[in-house]
Amino acid sequence: MSPSPRERFVAALRGEAQDAPTGWMMRQAGRFLPEYRAMREGRTFVEAVEDPEFAAEVTLQPIRRFGMDVAVIFCDILMPPKELGLDLSFEAGHGPKLVPTIREKADLALLNDFDPRVACAYLPAAIAKVRATLAGMDGGDRGIMGFCGAPFTTASYMVEGASSRNFEHTKRLMLTDPETFSALQAKLVDHLIPYLAMQVEAGADALQIFDSWGGNLDAANYRRYLLPHLKRLVAGAKETGAPVVIYLNGGSHLLEVLAEAEPDCIGLDYRVDIADARRRLPNIALQGNLDPTTLFTTPEIVEAGMNRTLDAFKGHPGHVFNVGSGLLPKTSIACVERAFETLRARR
Ligand code: CP3
Repeated sequence: MSPSPRERFVAALRGEAQDAPTGWMMRQAGRFLPEYRAMREGRTFVEAVEDPEFAAEVTLQPIRRFGMDVAVIFCDILMPPKELGLDLSFEAGHGPKLVPTIREKADLALLNDFDPRVACAYLPAAIAKVRATLAGMDGGDRGIMGFCGAPFTTASYMVEGASSRNFEHTKRLMLTDPETFSALQAKLVDHLIPYLAMQVEAGADALQIFDSWGGNLDAANYRRYLLPHLKRLVAGAKETGAPVVIYLNGGSHLLEVLAEAEPDCIGLDYRVDIADARRRLPNIALQGNLDPTTLFTTPEIVEAGMNRTLDAFKGHPGHVFNVGSGLLPKTSIACVERAFETLRARR
């Protein structure tokens, strides 16, 4: 009997032999889907995340439409900073906003502790609902990906207070007061370990750590200021028994440094050549890495791009297909449909 999509996904992350490709897309639950936009109307993003019925439904929408092998839980990497005491909002066209900012040692006193099982009880509730629905789904059971932000990426939002281009306040804190920057990352890791464990207990099969902005550091600074915290988070996450993925955007120069954190899998952005990544990381599963703007074009172009990506991994166990960075609002539904048809044609 062939494995279920759920079993195939977990086996791939563990680098075990695969009978066929498996895959999902980062930010697959979101704004390119009309059914998501319709449900979002009249409520804030935070209200939507904190409603387990809503979060479970939005998590399942792309699976129903496209039949992906993995559901990624509708939530956000900025919910833990909110529970540390910052005010989180999303203003249309401006991205996330966190108030107040944490820019010097005295600001650490603004942060409180929280128990994720109490403060984020909506999250395991949503995961349990998704788990129950996936079990009976056409095409077999699917995997569930839980996640959090890496200490650096999460801390950068707390320091900048918003998305940033140059991370000037973050890098200034890191270089002028490394003890405070380290204390901030350590506080995040202390809370993120039980936050991830809670997701696995509720039914997540694997965990992804998003270091979306870590590629803005050179390898020496990454190793010195970030790696010890990332390593502790990965080790804590692996205690759950679930495989762990680290995804980093713009990080071709950091692949070997990320491997030092000992994840089960590294998520490649779309700039990385897969054969080059294989040579550099022979003993680790890889996830990636179709350029998501390919999904603005035509189904034919998508099919060709999918075949190139899947061929690049052929013969190597330990590959999970994904996009090389999150789906964008302009993504074409017909293109995503063709992507998963192309993937399934190889079964
Ligand atoms: O589908 C999924 O991948 C699951 C849910 C998910 C969201 N955010 C939902 C979301 C995941 C995994 C994330 C991760 C996330 N959030 C990251 C790392 C991944 C990456 O893209 O690099 C980052 C940096 C964030 C922070 C964040 N949250 C940003 C920059 C934004 C966009 C703000 C904007 O207005 O463009 C968000 C909001 C957000 N998170 C949305 C969704 C579906 C859009 C909010 C909306 O519906 O209006």
